[in-house]
Amino acid sequence: MEERIEPARGDRGSAAQAATPRPLAEVQTSAAPRLRTGIGELDRVLGGGLVPGSLVLLGGSPGIGKSTLTNMALGHLEAAGHSTLYVSGEESAEQVRLRAERLVLDLGPDAAQGMAGTGNPALSVPVLSETDLDVVLGALERHRPKVCVIDSVQTLRSGGLTSAAGAVGQVREVTAGVMEVAKAQGIAVLLVGHVTKEGALAGPRVLEHLVDCVLQFEGERERPYRELRALKNRFGSTNETGLFEMRQGGLVEVLDASARFVAEATRAPGSVVLAAMEGSRPMLVEVQALVAPSELEQPRRVVSGLDRNRLALVLAILARHGGRQWSPRPPADVFVNVVGGVRVDEPGVDLAVALAVASASRGVPIDRSHPPAPRACFGELGLTGELRWVGHPERRLAEAAKHGCRDVLCPKGSGSGAMEVATLREALTIALPVTPRREGGRDATARAA
Ligand code: TYD
Ligand code: MG
Repeated sequence: MEERIEPARGDRGSAAQAATPRPLAEVQTSAAPRLRTGIGELDRVLGGGLVPGSLVLLGGSPGIGKSTLTNMALGHLEAAGHSTLYVSGEESAEQVRLRAERLVLDLGPDAAQGMAGTGNPALSVPVLSETDLDVVLGALERHRPKVCVIDSVQTLRSGGLTSAAGAVGQVREVTAGVMEVAKAQGIAVLLVGHVTKEGALAGPRVLEHLVDCVLQFEGERERPYRELRALKNRFGSTNETGLFEMRQGGLVEVLDASARFVAEATRAPGSVVLAAMEGSRPMLVEVQALVAPSELEQPRRVVSGLDRNRLALVLAILARHGGRQWSPRPPADVFVNVVGGVRVDEPGVDLAVALAVASASRGVPIDRSHPPAPRACFGELGLTGELRWVGHPERRLAEAAKHGCRDVLCPKGSGSGAMEVATLREALTIALPVTPRREGGRDATARAA
């Protein structure tokens, strides 16, 4: 039996030794240096860059920018002296070139010096337009790049299977084949995968347990902002997100998101600034609500950038614990939007949604200060109407202070510089003081507009 398991060594002694459990502290770790893609937001989400020999699955809907992002990453890697290969099963080499020509890579001062006179590094990436898995694997073995992009995993096909490209069996076979070569040769592979309308990684969903890292590229095609998040990461946290903007010259990292979103906030009724956490990074975003009379038997509840069930919950809490004057008068359609195409997936959004809806319902702005000093908020709502503590209050408060927000409404225990409140009711009273005359509300609306 032993010989069959350990055919190469066949030495009982060493087999027994290998079977001896060791304290974790004595386990050797290979400190293979990470390959920086040169795109800070991507490197951060990856946990510090690509790990040699690893497989990263990059999912996203068509047109979101997966090819652009991977093209840019390879361009940067080439500029830094790493060999790369871009395998395109979707586009011809000519199409890939046309996109690469549009890209403007920010190489930083050091790389720019080295690249002086050599032109656009995105054009120095070797491209292979191919859909046959065996041909691709052969090219990988011959070319031995440090980093390879396969765009997309659904377009490659193994001749060993009769099914069409993109079928579950094919996608699995392609990934297994690529993985074998990648692990053997230490190639870092970025596998691009398409996402279905339902949001699931089509086909690639079955790959999630195979690959080391699953990244999701999200956003709305009509809007410029794109968010990159890690759904799984064997080499880093799944908390990190990266923010990009699609521009003329490709994807540009958005490093000053808070400043932009605060500056763009309308301060009209229904607009609230939320001090959110995007992974481990604080970010100020604008949450907007619109409440309108409904003609439908079942009024609309439309959200973008947050969970639909969260809105339902907040509306129920608002109705039960906020008081009648703050709630949408039924039947009303309620729309809530996190501006800019950013997604907020954390409980701290509750208070912002409640205040935005209340403000929209009454037609009174939250923010009535002159000169403008936006009011921000964060906090989770409990079912009994209490405001609950959420993670990293100090980072949220620091971010709010940095961007000139005053009196940040937040749960008890959030720390200094905060306007701590215990309940939703209390938050509403502070943010939207009830004026005795109805005109008061309208005046305020007119002034803010
Ligand atoms: P693409 O990377 O091809 O998306 P995916 O591979 O995810 O399907 O990019 C899609 C869109 O991005 C495309 O509609 C054009 C736009 N785009 C720009 O706006 N600027 C650019 O510099 C590039 C390369 C693309
Ligand atoms: Mg593409």
